[in-house]
Amino acid sequence: MDALQLLLNRHSNPRLNEPAPAGEQLETIFKAGLRAPDHAGLTPWEFIVFEGEQRQLLGDILANATAAKGNDAEAIEGARKAPLRAPMVITVVAKVTEHDKVPRLEQELSAGCALLSMQMAAQALGFNGIWRTGWFAFDRGVHSELGLKEQDQIVGFLYLGTPQKDLRKVTEHEIAPFVRYFGQ
Ligand SMILES: Cc1cc2nc3c(=O)[nH]c(=O)nc-3n(C[C@H](O)[C@H](O)[C@H](O)COP(=O)(O)O)c2cc1C
Repeated sequence: MDALQLLLNRHSNPRLNEPAPAGEQLETIFKAGLRAPDHAGLTPWEFIVFEGEQRQLLGDILANATAAKGNDAEAIEGARKAPLRAPMVITVVAKVTEHDKVPRLEQELSAGCALLSMQMAAQALGFNGIWRTGWFAFDRGVHSELGLKEQDQIVGFLYLGTPQKDLRKVTEHEIAPFVRYFGQ
């Protein structure tokens, strides 16, 4: 797929079937993520993959966090089933380290770029998905069950699979409201 066409037509799709990317295609997706811009070469990334039955492990983690907040049984079961909405969920983590020239925000942005690059690589390969967060991404209980360190931050859950059908036309924004030519 032409690079500009890919950029101009990037879109999400929450309706995802099997198969998830695998083998060389999944490697290509990871390689795209690992080309994210990276100030000072800190490589502040981790991609935690849940596929097949392992998605239930993530479901249990989300359900435990929901229960810990005192939510009702319906909410807990909803959280447990959330990762089953796609055949693969990649939790993208910013592995933040102290650095005098690279603040936390830059490392989190780098991980976000990695997530976006992976979504776009997936789209180029005929897959698609959706970037989700929700409060789970910021919950210390979720972080701890995933084995994250205190300084780490989940930047998103990338749900990936094969689109059931291509859902809709992409939104095209007017350019002018978003651009300001300073001094003119
Ligand atoms: C940081 C971030 C977090 C997001 N979290 C969610 C989410 O939890 N649930 C959701 O439905 N969409 C979420 N979105 C939005 C979708 O990923 C998607 O961009 C949106 O549905 C618009 O669709 P489009 O990408 O096709 O334009 C999030 C986007 C970003 C950048």
